[in-house]
Amino acid sequence: MVTCRAPSNIALIKYMGKTEGNCPCNASLSYTLHDYWTEVSLEENANADVFANANEFSEQAANRFLAHLAYIKKLFGYSGFFTVTSRNNFPHSAGIASSASSFAALTKCAAQAIGATISTEQMSEISRHGSGSSCRSFFSPWCVWDENGARKAEIKIQNLRHELILIDSTRKAVSSSEAHKAVKTSLLFAGRPQRAAQRMTNLIAALNENRWEEAYHICWEEFADMHALFATSRPHFSYIQPKTLEWLTAIDRFWRTHKDGPIVTIDAGANIHLLWREDQKQLHIPSLY
Ligand code: DP6
Repeated sequence: MVTCRAPSNIALIKYMGKTEGNCPCNASLSYTLHDYWTEVSLEENANADVFANANEFSEQAANRFLAHLAYIKKLFGYSGFFTVTSRNNFPHSAGIASSASSFAALTKCAAQAIGATISTEQMSEISRHGSGSSCRSFFSPWCVWDENGARKAEIKIQNLRHELILIDSTRKAVSSSEAHKAVKTSLLFAGRPQRAAQRMTNLIAALNENRWEEAYHICWEEFADMHALFATSRPHFSYIQPKTLEWLTAIDRFWRTHKDGPIVTIDAGANIHLLWREDQKQLHIPSLY
């Protein structure tokens, strides 16, 4: 039996809009979340690939997981079968994208079980086919992913502390895979790659030059841009809930008062991710309200 673990990641410059094979329409930048991981085990099985704990997932999600395993096996001409077990150290219902950590862990585990000797870059590339954002989980603490693949991003500020404001833990009505398709119907999508690229340059510079407040503004504008795409798609949709807006108002008020605070971002969901610097140890979610 082979067991492998992979972390999740949170994007500050978002991957939103893709083409065939989960190729992103724009470059993204993420911070790797080592405290949130998935562990996948593969045990040889004589007859067929089986997902042992498939009942914990939707049928579609379970099939997608097994399809990725089949994709990797085909890539390496492997004809055996496995029983797959997957476990997160955070609940699926926590509202944290678990596809990044789970597909990264499955890719790592399958490569090892099959005996494929491949580089981290190749593993990341293979993982992208399962779920785009998972290709960023192979590089830490920062990862940039563009048309040349994912790689470690050289950013001076490290050891950020992640906190999650959990607003909704139910399964979302529009999956992120569906959102990637929907945003292309938005009239705002035309300039999206350019806006994301400009923010990427500005954010990396701000983080490297310790301009934290500038980084906060760029990240805020970036998630607002992605959510504006959702709001202007046809048909339009939204993940933002009244509680999300309440917390965003509180965070912004905190920033205006203290001229300092956390970096904030929201994925395709209602929950709010915070990143704090090392010297902000005394600050936590309750400090904000
Ligand atoms: C909003 O990686 O979940 O979290 O490639 O279809 O699996 P698929 O999509 P996924 O998209 C993540 C979108 C996002 C932003 C991000 O993580 O960059």
